[in-house]
Amino acid sequence: MLKYDYKYKTSGVFGVSYKRIEITEGQLARQRELMERVAELNAGLETRPLALVDTYGCQQNEADSEKLRGMLRAMGYEMTRDEYAADVIVINTCAVREHAERRVLGNVGALSHTKKAKPSQIICLCGCMMQEPGMAERIKNSYHHVRVVFGPHELWRFPEFLLRQLQGGKRVFETTPSDGCVTEGLPSERDSAVKAWLPIMYGCNNFCSYCIVPYVRGRERSRRAEDVLAEARRLAEAGYKDITLLGQNVNSYGKDLPGEPDFSDLIAAINDIPGDFLIRFMTSHPKDAGEKLFSTMARCGKAARHIHLPFQSGSDRVLSAMNRRYTREAYLDLIRMARAYMPDIVLTSDVIVGFPGETDEEFEDTLRLVEEVRFDALFTFIFSPRAGTPAASMPDPYTREQKQRRFDALVELQNRVSEEKHRAYIGTTARVLVDGEDGEYLTSRTSGGRLVRVRGDRGLIGTFREVKITDSNTWALYGELI
Ligand code: SAM
Ligand code: SF4
Ligand code: F3S
Repeated sequence: MLKYDYKYKTSGVFGVSYKRIEITEGQLARQRELMERVAELNAGLETRPLALVDTYGCQQNEADSEKLRGMLRAMGYEMTRDEYAADVIVINTCAVREHAERRVLGNVGALSHTKKAKPSQIICLCGCMMQEPGMAERIKNSYHHVRVVFGPHELWRFPEFLLRQLQGGKRVFETTPSDGCVTEGLPSERDSAVKAWLPIMYGCNNFCSYCIVPYVRGRERSRRAEDVLAEARRLAEAGYKDITLLGQNVNSYGKDLPGEPDFSDLIAAINDIPGDFLIRFMTSHPKDAGEKLFSTMARCGKAARHIHLPFQSGSDRVLSAMNRRYTREAYLDLIRMARAYMPDIVLTSDVIVGFPGETDEEFEDTLRLVEEVRFDALFTFIFSPRAGTPAASMPDPYTREQKQRRFDALVELQNRVSEEKHRAYIGTTARVLVDGEDGEYLTSRTSGGRLVRVRGDRGLIGTFREVKITDSNTWALYGELI
């Protein structure tokens, strides 16, 4: 079995300090120079070259892909969705579950056809999966059409890797293990003109026993508050209406910075930026969320009435084996506190079914917690063993079929609750942000993040509107513009 270098586990996590690496202006200036060199090469072509960036995984990866697109655009590429037409393909991968990895490898395998049809095509793989021990080697040996492989810590060096390929250089494999770095000032091409990701920190120190993220994303490191605020100001000035602060555990924001600026204070400072926009954030870890966060959300008019607070399991034994560092009762106390401050708060969560050794009774504890809290929505996952994490080598006597049955029971329960909660909106009015279109409907979101489908002119996209809720189902509300 693969083993991680536990140097990473001891650095920074148990009080031993690790070195915070910030990419310097000089290092970035060099990459900008290389971007210009690529742009010059591309300017000499008859037609503008095309690039495709495909993203798997979480919002952090979405935000990284916006940077990859920003760099590609600065290097003279136009974006395409056609993998046969693309001159450069970048696949930004996720390692969190085996299923995600299998999909990536299947799709990368299929790209051998596009490469055959267009031999000059440069195929690049990056993201969390590439940082797994042994993965780069596997790509090197079995996927010869892939030219460039780099992990999340090397993203800022993408121009250098691409130029090397354009100049006929050797295949690139840059996945040295690292605690990670903070990079400011990379260009970014955002996917939406209405909603924006705003990463405030990277990495994770929590080492939940099932999770691969801390190994592939490095240690927690925060962007300086002034950099986050400057970006938030630019987004508000550019007319963004929905800003989501990103981090694996946003409640520990700032602990590695001088003066230890606090996450709640950051929300309050963003709330003071002029403009009509919503502030969202994800993800919060229950062990670090508390009264200050809820009271700040309650008094900040721009803070969306939504909190995503993963509980993972309703059983104290399983929570302890997961290394989550809170109990079921402590979690329920947090929910009560959040609701006391914000009675209309929308609550969503993540839960894992079939953690190694989870018994039927322990799973029942999860069902009971879901009944008790009545979340608005749940993201449910079947445990997926990740090589090198402690949970992957825990005894696991339960079969996939047993786990699937539990999963189905949980989804059925949550669907009933979501359906009931949605039905209660009928007849009420809500302020929504119209954020896109889907077939015959415009899509919009309440402050709590509930999807409301409305009919109207697409010119309304990017505006806040009042709607009357007229219908609902398990997944969405339907409304009429007032
Ligand atoms: N940092 C966030 C937190 O702690 O809540 C979550 C990040 S993780 C990308 C998103 C979700 O994936 C987790 O909340 C967990 O429910 C799920 N997850 C992580 N590792 C998993 C595994 N090995 N098997 C199944 N689900 C997993
Ligand atoms: Fe993974 Fe836990 Fe970190 Fe979330 S807090 S990224 S689940 S280790
Ligand atoms: Fe996946 Fe990496 Fe996010 S493992 S869930 S893309 S941090």
